[in-house]
Amino acid sequence: MSTKDVVLEQLIKSGGSALSGAKLAQELCLSRTAVWKAIEELRRDGYQISAVTNRGYTLVEQGDRLSLPAIRSFLRRKPTADQIRLYDSLESTNQTAKQLALEGAPSGTIVLADEQIGGRGRRGRSFFSPAGTSVYFTVVFRSELAADRAVMITTAASVAVARAIDRITGGEPRAQIKWINDVYLGGKKVCGILTDAVTNMENGSFEYIVVGIGINVNNKEEDFPEEFRSRAGSLFSVTGKRYDRNRMAAALADEIADILPVFSSGDYLKEYRSRSCVLGRAIQIFGGGHDGTPATAVDIDDHGYLLARGQQGELYTLNSGEITIRSR
Ligand code: BTN
Repeated sequence: MSTKDVVLEQLIKSGGSALSGAKLAQELCLSRTAVWKAIEELRRDGYQISAVTNRGYTLVEQGDRLSLPAIRSFLRRKPTADQIRLYDSLESTNQTAKQLALEGAPSGTIVLADEQIGGRGRRGRSFFSPAGTSVYFTVVFRSELAADRAVMITTAASVAVARAIDRITGGEPRAQIKWINDVYLGGKKVCGILTDAVTNMENGSFEYIVVGIGINVNNKEEDFPEEFRSRAGSLFSVTGKRYDRNRMAAALADEIADILPVFSSGDYLKEYRSRSCVLGRAIQIFGGGHDGTPATAVDIDDHGYLLARGQQGELYTLNSGEITIRSR
């Protein structure tokens, strides 16, 4: 971490009590001038830091900036902080994560960005990714698992997202999942997940997988492009409350770190089903030979596949493609 980041971490840890320049310098093995310079840099970055003679520095207001020290202060699993790489702006966190994975980044490496210039969604769509509002997060995952189990990873990730959102909002309303991996809150899509994998052609297993997650946190409804407005929302637009994105990123990192190593057991599927907003609903199926096939979603099987009953009673088992919910 940079000097600026370690000073910020100490100010966050002090929980609003003043820290003298001398104490900061001593604890961090820095000169007082280095501490002063770091404070000035932090102020330029938008942190409000008050300085009172004979008492010291206090972090008054963090603003809404993503910062590693703040994320670390909220993490349940502190070592995760060393695996996080935070950027102001990227083309796409999935793209950077893939590059890092190619260069040998270990499983668990997390790429976070405040903004994406070319955020990507499923089926070649773009993902609206403005600065200062959301969490764009990609985790690198290495697994020996056969490539045809990708659905399990992506469904496990959606449970992790739903748990993280509930931790932040208090669970009211409860986060729900629309198969395969869109996370909804109060009837609005607040998160999309894009899983990219590179497979080993020789043995059919994964070389590496990147799971990209975009959570709309503090976006106002009117900020969404008009074509998404009826479906898309943010935690703020649904609950009326603003949330700390550092807290959201930390909760997500914790939940992902909890679920990914054990996803192949399928233990999370019970929760996935209970969070499903499609079971029992009339749907339309797209992709995999379907172009709007009407059906009813009946179950999620132990592979994370969706079982849907067609209008002639035929059973579809879906492991890819997309569904929309029909109003009857
Ligand atoms: C979708 O709903 O179509 C999936 C959207 C996935 C968006 C996330 S944001 C972080 C990561 N980087 C990307 O470019 N896409 C994913």
